[in-house]
Amino acid sequence: MATLLLNGKSVTVDAAPDTPLLWVLRDHLHLTGTKFGCGAALCGACTVHVDGVATRSCVTPLSALTGKRVTSIEGLQGRVGSAVQAAWDKHQVPQCGYCQSGQVMTASALLAKNAKPTDAQIVEAMQGNICRCGTYARIEAAVRDAAGSLEVKP
Ligand code: FES
Ligand code: FES
Repeated sequence: MATLLLNGKSVTVDAAPDTPLLWVLRDHLHLTGTKFGCGAALCGACTVHVDGVATRSCVTPLSALTGKRVTSIEGLQGRVGSAVQAAWDKHQVPQCGYCQSGQVMTASALLAKNAKPTDAQIVEAMQGNICRCGTYARIEAAVRDAAGSLEVKP
């Protein structure tokens, strides 16, 4: 048994300490918004926040999460999370959608840390999140838009 602080709530799961967080979320807690892509920290589909930092849940064992705050796409909220989700809607970013929860989590971690990223910083922050549908231009536009909306609405 392990206890996890997930999406603002304390959650107990019956899983081995080396179980990747991705499978804790999907199989044990039935939170399927976080996706499996490569299982090897290469694609970003499984990105969640751990203490606010964009983290690959496929390679993060349950044992590494003691005392940490975990946020999955289902728990993303607040000013930055709302701005990113509104910008994603406005720009109609997703195509198939498979990579998008990871994209949104990476973008919101970026903007929580740096609300005024340069274009180069956006590209750098997002480059580890692969999109097989090639929605990169809309992703970058949405991140810029979300940053702009954070600037005008303090
Ligand atoms: S599934 Fe975790 S990085 Fe690809
Ligand atoms: S929207 Fe299809 S993989 Fe990104």
